[in-house]
Amino acid sequence: MTSSIGTATSRVDGRAKVTGRAKYAGEFNVPGLAYGAVVMSTITKGRIARIDTTQALKVEGVIDILTHDNRPPMASDDKDYSDDVAPEGGSPFRPLYDDRIRFNRQPIALVLAEDWETARFAATLVQVHYEVEGFATDLHAELERARAVDKPVKPRGDASKALARAALRLSADYLIPAEYHNPMEPFAATVIWDGDGKLTIHDKTQGVQNVQRYVCGIFHLKPDDVRVTSPFVGGAFGSGLRPQYEVVLATLGALKLKRPVRVVLTREEMYGLSYRPMTLERLALGASAEGALDAVMHEAIAMTSRNEDFSRNDTAWAELLYKSSNARYVHKLAALDVVTPADMRAPGAATGVYALECAMDELAVALKLDPLELRLRCYSERDQGSGQPYSSKQLRECYRQGAEAFGWAKRNAAPRSMRDGSELVGWGMATGVWEALQMPFATRILLTANGHVEVSCAATDIGTGTYTVMAQVAADMLGAPVDSITVKLGDSSLPQAQVEGGSWTAASVAHAIANAADDLRKELLALAQTMPNSPLQGLKLDDVVLADGAIAAKGDTRRSIGLADVMRQAGVERIEKERGSDFKEDDKHAHNTHSAVLAEVKVDEELGVIRVTRVVNAVAAGRIINTKTATSQIMGGVVWGIGMALHEEALVDHAFGRVMNANIAEYHVPVNADIHEVKVIFVEEPDSVINPLGIKGVGEIGIVGVAAAVANAVYHATGTRVRDLPITLDKLARPTGSGDLELGQSRAAKQ
Ligand code: MOS
Repeated sequence: MTSSIGTATSRVDGRAKVTGRAKYAGEFNVPGLAYGAVVMSTITKGRIARIDTTQALKVEGVIDILTHDNRPPMASDDKDYSDDVAPEGGSPFRPLYDDRIRFNRQPIALVLAEDWETARFAATLVQVHYEVEGFATDLHAELERARAVDKPVKPRGDASKALARAALRLSADYLIPAEYHNPMEPFAATVIWDGDGKLTIHDKTQGVQNVQRYVCGIFHLKPDDVRVTSPFVGGAFGSGLRPQYEVVLATLGALKLKRPVRVVLTREEMYGLSYRPMTLERLALGASAEGALDAVMHEAIAMTSRNEDFSRNDTAWAELLYKSSNARYVHKLAALDVVTPADMRAPGAATGVYALECAMDELAVALKLDPLELRLRCYSERDQGSGQPYSSKQLRECYRQGAEAFGWAKRNAAPRSMRDGSELVGWGMATGVWEALQMPFATRILLTANGHVEVSCAATDIGTGTYTVMAQVAADMLGAPVDSITVKLGDSSLPQAQVEGGSWTAASVAHAIANAADDLRKELLALAQTMPNSPLQGLKLDDVVLADGAIAAKGDTRRSIGLADVMRQAGVERIEKERGSDFKEDDKHAHNTHSAVLAEVKVDEELGVIRVTRVVNAVAAGRIINTKTATSQIMGGVVWGIGMALHEEALVDHAFGRVMNANIAEYHVPVNADIHEVKVIFVEEPDSVINPLGIKGVGEIGIVGVAAAVANAVYHATGTRVRDLPITLDKLARPTGSGDLELGQSRAAKQ
């Protein structure tokens, strides 16, 4: 009886967004609002000797200037600054805490004024005197000092020995530069002090309860005294998983002034808080002449900060994709004088799978095998590490449907063999893989006698479509139309939610809604059975359904009572049920989403211009709740993957330790002119194991594999292998990076 799940339902919050009714964190206007502008450090390491605010304070309209010297009290213990997503055991950065400078563009003062322009102007008059210390920001210079993280994926067999014996050995290094999230909405917080010491905080975040706990920790406040909302989020992609410094600064301002304070970060300031860490990926693959993998070695060396070890799984994705008896994975971190890196869409996989899937392409070329055929020969039906099967894995079908939609069979294998007029044409492919996770979430369903339904949860909708999928799931569970459902999100006072991330929200909230709907049905049945001559007499919970505004016997709609009648007869105005997702962890299977990405590029060799003219992304991600919003998620991932392959790169001047292109004019993200045909296919993938609705989540799988498919297409077009992203025209003319191909015991070819 599902009718909304699986459809292309338009966003229920779409109208509010396009008409401007949807309010973002920096848009809550209250009387007496003061505006904060940030002063950032211009050095990378050292201490603040003195901050001279005399000139700035003279500007009319400036109220106060906060520094580490005069701010309200803050906690002194590291654990008070922790949050749900903080790396274990580290020492989280504390904004405006002391005189230490730990990274360039660190916030060091907050100018508070009656209006935003005055605050910004006065911020330019703040004079900071530093004691400068030496620093390191260049990963390449620190590779030797990188330390292995202690939670390695277990090695299998003897990879070194197997590699040495392999008929064919490929080793290559790939580099992914630091990339920034660049969401459309900048980080912003409006903090309202209500006079009784209570705070209402409107913050741009992926987790309102996470921010609530964090603020309570830093300022020793009680949860009841701090309410955090984030009803709409203009993109975050992981940058809002951890609380960011705007919320601390705005809270300090509100506590100091005892009036509401807003802090909105500038685009440049957004380059001082979160990014995907630059990572060097070292791959070695050993294979037989027939294309069976004997050995996989993957070592990643990523940057982190001095104060926290940020690491994600870059290396072990081959465990989920390809059969091999011998494997070794090592993840190392090099500590630099930078702010801690952060999760960014498919953290670990976007980077690690890029390297793995380029290496597989290089192996296919060496073996003279079609790259898709090589994937099929190595295809794994089990997680190689645990030996467990998948709850579902329709990756073969992704390859088949993707290849068919793309026309892969018409590919001429030889590089530089396909042309369109003066342009070289290249076709490349790659595999994508991500995790299908579930987290504890709770939802509350409120049913009123007039048939209105409200579903609420502290989750945030970061643009992924949470409002809509929750309305759809509730509609189906309650047998009500989608437009009779109101969804409330993004408020710390609502039922428990984890941060919205990791692609886990849809599966988790859907489960919680189904549970709460069960409880609601149970109560309605009990009430209905107390009615005289009830047609539902003697029926059990499993014998009844909610449909068309009534509770009815399964398969016999004549035995039914309208919900309004049930409630009226019982004298009940409203029924409210709150339940958690309470899912039972299935520990007998691996849970993953998969994809096959195929890309076409056209390269103008004289100009070095690369265009990605076509992409097909065939995704297997369990049941798709909303084909429209899910398609948007995958498209967004494809666009970002194209940016990763061809455009995105933070350029750091290591003499100053500073990102030079801290704006979206010089840090290039794809624009409309860069994006051509993108086709998204959802492969059917029933999964009764993972959860009752078979939902896996689609937020992140869309980017994984895209950069590799594009890079492999560029190689196929040009015969030139560029392993360092982004593939820019200078690198295409003179490839950097290294890769070796060896046959048997002796070196036979070098690229
Ligand atoms: Mo995602 S990187 O978990 O927001």
